Amino acid sequence: MQAVQIWKTIAEAQAGCAAFRRASKRIGVVPTMGALHAGHLSLVRGSLAECDATVVTIFVNPTQFGPGEDLSRYPRTWNQDLAALEDLGVDAVFSPTVEEMYAEGTTFVDLPIIATPLEGVHRPGHFRGVATVVMKLFHAVPADAAYFGQKDYQQAMVVSRVVQDLNFPIEMNVLPIVRDADGLAMSSRNRFLSSAERRRALALHQTLRDAKNRIEQGCRDGEEISRQMLHSLSPCVDSVDYALLVDPSTLTPVADLSLKHPSVVALIAAHVGATRLIDNEIIAIPH
Ligand code: PAJ
Repeated sequence: MQAVQIWKTIAEAQAGCAAFRRASKRIGVVPTMGALHAGHLSLVRGSLAECDATVVTIFVNPTQFGPGEDLSRYPRTWNQDLAALEDLGVDAVFSPTVEEMYAEGTTFVDLPIIATPLEGVHRPGHFRGVATVVMKLFHAVPADAAYFGQKDYQQAMVVSRVVQDLNFPIEMNVLPIVRDADGLAMSSRNRFLSSAERRRALALHQTLRDAKNRIEQGCRDGEEISRQMLHSLSPCVDSVDYALLVDPSTLTPVADLSLKHPSVVALIAAHVGATRLIDNEIIAIPH
């Protein structure tokens, strides 16, 4: 197996990608903040299956963390990450420093409307940092295809829209949520949960499944299902930022499921102890 290339600078990444391109390789990129788990690795496998060269970016992006958020305690597991990526046969890892990515007074990307609700309300500034860093990563690693997780549903929507609006020539792929055996969506932040908190955190997935069951059993009152989601979640978690059904493309709340919608997304953000968790489920509406 060829050793994985490690690129620390934008110039190295651009030169490395140019070499892949000269060899007529289709390039896939998987943007991450490291602390890799099976969810991230499913995206890597997606790229490896569809592309000739796969580049994983590992960069804990300071501009997407708010003042009270967990930038300083964000997990960093470089050695394990690299070993896992090497095992899978990734071609290159781009892991720049903060100084390499950002200069004083840097440019930011302005956001589409779908960045406004939900995470936009509860994490002001978050998507501005995400959209900016992803565009910068795509310029450093000019790939043909990018792989994102449905786990961060709104993020995938925002990035897809920015890619479209800025005419970025990259194919966006959004792959399903990978869960632990007990249903908890995998997240780098799950390691912060105590075992009691982890048990309480299972309420997120359970609530999503209940919403799905109610829709499949014929309930078409979106507001009632959203109220029920909040009601069943509240006793198990410490606080709920949101729990509701939204339109999959506009992210606006859906009140009446009997109208036109082929599917809805149930979205949850909640705090368990000091950890903020998000989860979601795309639910087809039988008509
Ligand atoms: P990070 O949280 O490291 O996630 C990197 C990618 O992995 C994202 O596309 C995310 O949706 C996906 N992912 C996380 N958990 C997953 C799971 N359980 N199943 C499937 N995919 C999962 O998201 C970010 O980093 C950053 O915001 C980033 C896009 C890298 C910009 O800094």
